[in-house]
Amino acid sequence: MTNFADRARPPRLTGRLLFAAEAGRDLRTTGAIAPSGSKLAHALIEPVRRSVRPTLSILEVGSGTGALTRALATCMGPTDTLTCVEKNPRLVEYLRRQVDTDTSLRVLGDRITVREADVVEGVMSEKYHAIVVGLPFANFTASETRAICHALDDALVPGGTLTYFSYLGASIVDNFTGDRHSRRRRHSAQALAEFRTGFRQSRRTVWANVPPAHAWTLTRPAEAHLPNGRASRPPAS
Ligand SMILES: C[S@@+](CC[C@H](N)C(=O)[O-])C[C@H]1O[C@@H](n2cnc3c(N)ncnc32)[C@H](O)[C@@H]1O
Repeated sequence: MTNFADRARPPRLTGRLLFAAEAGRDLRTTGAIAPSGSKLAHALIEPVRRSVRPTLSILEVGSGTGALTRALATCMGPTDTLTCVEKNPRLVEYLRRQVDTDTSLRVLGDRITVREADVVEGVMSEKYHAIVVGLPFANFTASETRAICHALDDALVPGGTLTYFSYLGASIVDNFTGDRHSRRRRHSAQALAEFRTGFRQSRRTVWANVPPAHAWTLTRPAEAHLPNGRASRPPAS
């Protein structure tokens, strides 16, 4: 339900306040105190913008208040679809309200779905051409990171792209957060590095974000090679 204070504030400000409040409640899962900035959002949606496929099926993971969702909406084609997976119910409620009221999202109509789920259970057997991940991997254990990577791997078609970010300066933060956090971050980074080896990978540094971040793009080879040396064909669409 929208209260008077929500109605009186511009929606983006309400979203920022909500995001900060959720970070205060659970910084480990929320991962930051503010939504991604527009430069980082644009770096992460670049493969969607450049795609030449007639119809894209897009998955966004960890949608938060919709910073990347809005950026995606600006470059989606008329038949593309977007599924947003977010596990925080308060952020899901906010984003669903935005989908109904924010003109940049309302235009997508029923081509956008906001699902309340943990990504490990939430993407099931569906396949996507592009996956945009907004998760704070550095806060996860290596086994959590591996489980998420496994779910994402299953959900990506051959030739598909996956983008995610990692914040810069994590080793400086380690000085304040102690050994346990530092170990967790390094082990999660190692799990991600292993995951990346199955892809063509590129990395761009986005300084104009708080905090600055690397935007990673992973592209799955169009033809996955089978153990017997033959290649499987990518799906037709
Ligand atoms: C760093 S915020 C990014 C929010 C938004 N994409 C942005 O860039 O501003 C991470 C988001 O991931 C969500 N999240 C964390 N773990 C998740 C999981 N296992 N499954 C789905 N969402 C998750 C958090 O609730 C939070 O909204």
